[in-house]
Parts: sequence; structure tokens; C-alpha cells
Amino acid sequence: MTKSYQTVKVEKDNGITWVILNRPEKRNAMSPQLHYDMLDAINELETDNETRVLVLTGAGESWCAGQDLKEYFRALDNNPAERRRANWASQEWRWRRLFTFPKPTIAMVNGYCFGGAFTPLIACDFAIAAEDAVFGLSEINWGIFPGGLVSRVLADALCYRDAVYYIMTGDPFDGKKAAEMKLVNFAVPRAQLREETIKLAKKLMEKNPHALRAAKEVYKLCRTMDYSQAEDYMGAKSTALRATDPEKGREEGTKQFLDDKTYRPGFGAYGRKKG
Ligand code: ACO
Repeated sequence: MTKSYQTVKVEKDNGITWVILNRPEKRNAMSPQLHYDMLDAINELETDNETRVLVLTGAGESWCAGQDLKEYFRALDNNPAERRRANWASQEWRWRRLFTFPKPTIAMVNGYCFGGAFTPLIACDFAIAAEDAVFGLSEINWGIFPGGLVSRVLADALCYRDAVYYIMTGDPFDGKKAAEMKLVNFAVPRAQLREETIKLAKKLMEKNPHALRAAKEVYKLCRTMDYSQAEDYMGAKSTALRATDPEKGREEGTKQFLDDKTYRPGFGAYGRKKG
């Protein structure tokens, strides 16, 4: 059963779960309630068998206008208990849970993406933007800096010059520029955004999901390890994948290439027995 929320819509369709930030009248700014709803939705979907790829997008003309300046900031200035609760939920879903979500994640950026929205944008495995989407690190324009984890994750996602430029000027930029800087994988005309997102999701659904999960965890987590730690971790992870993969992908792929001669691993996924 698909749960319903005040500020988030979840729609499931043929393996793709569309998670839609749903406060279009506030440009999908992140209120405390939206953080609580998103945390619950992600929790549910992590182990939901119908969800094979998660797409994060926004209702209306905005992807996400950042933290809600009224409900997340000003309203909690004198409420430290609620501020702490909201802050924890905000960091938990936007980074820790989304960054290592056990299935592929795609940010489909359909419009505005400001400030705190950069954290879930970068946490997703892939990002596809409408060419006319508008991005901005607007914090400097109202006297703060990109906080939470934004400055930290930008250090991973943008080159030094671009990151410092946009942090310090607050200048907005469009989807084409985001693609040029590799903040998103690519940008497409708005009319093709959904179709291109589905195309990528379908490509991912052809792969072995257990290998996909291990692949993203290994890449994302070993980036901050030293070489010995990374080598040891990858060795252990590889053994774990072979032991736990219910479809025995390594053996099956090897058999199809070497014995059956039915596919070329350089050009696509092996023929999987289960969907
Ligand atoms: N926080 C709270 N409310 C917001 C936010 C936000 N981040 N963004 C938009 N809204 C609200 C507006 O206050 C307005 O509410 P109202 O109808 O009750 O007055 C409604 O959403 C629509 O906003 P408009 O400004 O009228 O919409 P428009 O389409 O003209 O502009 C835009 C959209 C560009 C996103 C503009 O609202 C804006 O600049 N928002 C702030 C974006 C920002 O700087 N985000 C970073 C926040 S800081 C952080 O994340 C750490």
C-alpha cells in the first residue's frame, strides 16, 4: 500500500517510485513537516519491493526552493527542541538516507533548486534537469552561507572555482549551466524531462539490483578512505556480494559470456532470470 502524506506525494509505476515534494504554493520549500514526511517515505521505500528506482521531483514549477524561511527558520528560532528534531530529520533524509538509499535514485529537477535543496540533489545518484530549471546558492543574498551540509557536499560535486563563485555571488544559473559544470548528468528540454528520466530508470532496472546497490555503496563510501582501507573494504564487499546475491549474477553472467556465448558484457547487462 502506498502511504499518503501532507507534504509529499508517492506514486508507483512499473518499478519507478516518484517521490514528489508537494507544496507547490510554497515552491516546495522544506518545512519541518516536509522533513518528517520525507524521512518516513524514504524509510518505507527502502524495503518496498515495488520500488526499484526512486525519482525525486517537485510538484508544479519548482523542484525545491530550499529550507522554508518561515517555518523551518523563523518559527523555530525560539523553539530549540523542535529545531533540533527538524534539523535531525532534515539531515537524515536529505543526506544520510538518500546518499546510501539501497536502490538507484534520480533527481528530476523540474524547476527551482535553491539553497538547502542542493543536499538531496547531490545525494541522489543521478540528476537530470530541465534546461530552463533555475539553480542558486542564494544564502549569501540574505546574509548567511550555505550551511547544513551544503558547502561540504558542494566540495564533492563542483570544481573549486565554480563552487566558490556561486557560493560567494549567489548568482542563479540554469539547467544547461548545471550540466556543463556536471552538477547534473544532463539537461534536456522541459518537454522531454520525464521521458528521459524514465529511459534512465529502465536502463537501471535491467541490471542486477544487488550489484547496483553494492556498486554505489562502494564508490560513495570508499571516496574518503585511504588506499589500504579501500582495498580491504572492497575485497570484503565483493565476497559479501557473491555470498548474498540471490540471483548469483557473477556466475550467471560468466556462464552466458563464456559458455552460452549469448551476450557481450561490454555492451549490456546479462539476461536476468528475475525482473
Ligand atoms: N521559504 C519559505 N517560503 C518560500 C520559499 C522559501 N525558501 N520560497 C518560496 N516561498 C514562498 C513565498 O514566500 C510565497 O509564499 P506566499 O504566497 O505565502 O507569499 C510562495 O512561496 C511563492 O513564492 P514567490 O516568491 O511568490 O514565487 P516566484 O515563483 O515568484 O519565485 C522563487 C520563486 C524564485 C523560488 C522565490 O520564491 C525565491 O527566491 N525563494 C527563496 C529561495 C531561496 O533563497 N531558498 C534558499 C533558502 S535558504 C536555505 O535553503 C538554507
